[in-house]
Amino acid sequence: MPIGYNIRNKIALVTGANRGIGKKITETFLQKGAAKVYAAVRNTDTVMPLIEKYGKRIEAISINLEKLETIIAASHQAKDVEVVVNNAGVNTRSMPLNNNAVDSLNYELEINVNGLIRMAQSFSPVLKKNGGGVFIQINSVASMKNFVPIATYCASKAAAYSITQSLREILNEQGTFVMSVHPGPIATDMIANVPDILKIAESPQVVADSIIDGLNNRDFHVFPDKMAKEIKEAYQSFSENIIEGNILDE
Ligand SMILES: NC(=O)c1ccc[n+]([C@@H]2O[C@H](COP(=O)([O-])OP(=O)(O)OC[C@H]3O[C@@H](n4cnc5c(N)ncnc54)[C@H](OP(=O)(O)O)[C@@H]3O)[C@@H](O)[C@H]2O)c1
Repeated sequence: MPIGYNIRNKIALVTGANRGIGKKITETFLQKGAAKVYAAVRNTDTVMPLIEKYGKRIEAISINLEKLETIIAASHQAKDVEVVVNNAGVNTRSMPLNNNAVDSLNYELEINVNGLIRMAQSFSPVLKKNGGGVFIQINSVASMKNFVPIATYCASKAAAYSITQSLREILNEQGTFVMSVHPGPIATDMIANVPDILKIAESPQVVADSIIDGLNNRDFHVFPDKMAKEIKEAYQSFSENIIEGNILDE
């Protein structure tokens, strides 16, 4: 059984740390004793409330997942980072027969998938230099199941999950532990205008808490909330045998 990973005294970086799930992960890491969190956001002014609350344990850092140069610059600034959480993401709520479906999907792929690849490319050397550390990707139940009103988003989250699986194997070689987090509906701005979903949504705190537990258990897949756990139950055998197992081995 591998030894659990404790966030205490660690230095983390969270994309999209200014609001929603990213903000809750940031605050939970600090409450659990992280030494510092780089709040990686498009507009660093939006980190002010966190700086007012936590002082020097928060450092605002500029990252736009669409712009590789901002990610490279951040990786030079946050040289001491040990835990990277790629949380930021977008959801255009588009279906494949909509006129704007291709543009919507391309935008979601650009941020949710290409952004992940850019983050992994820029930060894996930093994590390696700092002893391996952890790379956490916020995926979704939408990585496993397509929901029609957000079909193009689901396609992007499926692609992000696929890339996360490859990162798990690639980064394992440098001692970096990779985690794939799969929340169901969580009450944030992303679903604020969808009353039916908001009704069943859970607090971002369940995502943050499940990440802490997942670090302790060194889980690759993390399923935080009620809907996610239902999917986990049905998915577990496939995941253990096919995703985490090695199907190429006899
Ligand atoms: N809410 C849910 O039901 C749910 C469920 C499963 C998975 N997720 C995933 O959880 C993650 C966080 O979602 P959320 O619900 O917290 O969403 P949210 O409240 O809409 O927040 C999205 C975050 O992503 C940032 N962002 C958007 N585009 C960006 C870009 N190009 N570069 C850098 N940052 C960018 C936003 O920054 P700005 O403030 O600058 O816009 C914001 O911080 C996403 O990956 C999402 O797919 C959400």
